Amino acid sequence: MGLGRVGLCLSSCFASKGHEVIGADSDANKVEMVNQRKSPIFEPGLQDLLARVVRRGSLRCVTQTEKAVIGSDITFVSVGTPSLRSGGIDLKFVRAAAKDIGRALREKSGYHLVVITSTVTPGTTESIVQPIVEEHSGKRLGEHLGFCMNPEFLREGNAIHDVFHPHLVVIGECDRRSGDQLERFYQTFFDEKIPLMRVNPKTAELIKYANNAFLATKISFVNTIANICGKLPDVDVVTVAKAIGSDPRIGPHFLKAGVGFGGSCLPKDLRALINFARKHCYGAALLKAVSEVNEDQWRRVYELARSKLGGLKGKRIAVLGLAFKPGTDDVRESPSIRLVRELVKARADVVAYDPAAMCNARRIVPRIRYEDSPRKCLEKADCAIVATEWEEFMGLTPEDFSSRMRYPLVIDGRRVYDSREYSKVLDFVAVGLCSDESNCKLDVLR
Ligand code: UDX
Repeated sequence: MGLGRVGLCLSSCFASKGHEVIGADSDANKVEMVNQRKSPIFEPGLQDLLARVVRRGSLRCVTQTEKAVIGSDITFVSVGTPSLRSGGIDLKFVRAAAKDIGRALREKSGYHLVVITSTVTPGTTESIVQPIVEEHSGKRLGEHLGFCMNPEFLREGNAIHDVFHPHLVVIGECDRRSGDQLERFYQTFFDEKIPLMRVNPKTAELIKYANNAFLATKISFVNTIANICGKLPDVDVVTVAKAIGSDPRIGPHFLKAGVGFGGSCLPKDLRALINFARKHCYGAALLKAVSEVNEDQWRRVYELARSKLGGLKGKRIAVLGLAFKPGTDDVRESPSIRLVRELVKARADVVAYDPAAMCNARRIVPRIRYEDSPRKCLEKADCAIVATEWEEFMGLTPEDFSSRMRYPLVIDGRRVYDSREYSKVLDFVAVGLCSDESNCKLDVLR
């Protein structure tokens, strides 16, 4: 249930291994698209896999949930849990799914397992999903009904690979039989031996949040070090990160400094965990700091552009990269979009380019100019900001910038360029690198 990125990838991968999968979503367009063998989202490898399994008849999609539930043995719930204003999560789709499953199960005989893969705060599976399903089905956990919480760790752009090769499978079981059923399912699914942990549902729910909060912490940590490096001539965060990353206790991943983290998961999950802790009378100071550092990170780039240009009104700013990370067309909570919005507010003349995300960006920031190549985007610009580290931008030379721009100020927000080479030709500043006096004084000025 739920044909978002997670639901689509799980359905297609499960179907590719010989399972008969029925995908359910209330969005009739989405259902129609999948049945026509077209992936509704951009995710490497998904289109081919989906087309193959639909053609073979292993995956079909419906809008009526009951059909999907009655015709299957296991229901994976992967509906969205969007942020509320409070920072908490909105469980309306989870509740609706539970109700639909419960109603359908009234009509079904035999054992049925409900698996929650949606990201939900600790207690949701046992205290919300289970009672709703039980009430509407008239059945109880045990002989005919099972529940598991099974968090996923899929990265956008690598989701198909991550379904087939997870670092870990976490099974949060409401009773032993539920866990046995899901473990058996995964044993037949994986070709290799995957580490598996069986825990209670609340633990599984927290594992997902702790995982994402730790990744976010690593990024805000390295960005903090980057900001300190920005004040120290001749100290580069890339070198510092490489050194600390080689300590096996720290590890090399998620230590790339930049304009901050975005996407549909990290910011939302961090807010939800902070909110959850607050509800339990705990301040979670570290997590709040992680969030604050992230909020500040894109703003620092904005301030840098403003101070270097002596104001932004009327200045032409070329923004290279709009997606929250390379390899995706997703702009949700993208630091680049936040930067663009702030630049527009300051009445800068913003021109943007992204190899994949311009269509999505146009919907939320329609008033800026979009160009169809990075070089065109640079024409007559007073400042260029690299906000997403697309490979395409790595091919640009200092001359590509200097020959096109009105004033060659380049802010490397993702550490894409060789600073020594670029500084020779351009007014070049980069996150985590102290370039000149104005950079060092930025925080005093603020
Ligand atoms: C994340 C989790 O990695 C995944 O396990 C979970 O299931 C969903 O959320 P995703 O949102 O696809 O996946 O993006 P991810 O690759 O984790 O990157 C998140 C953000 O962090 C991006 O904006 C990226 O640019 C930023 N990032 C990542 C950094 O700024 N520095 C890094 O070193 C790594």
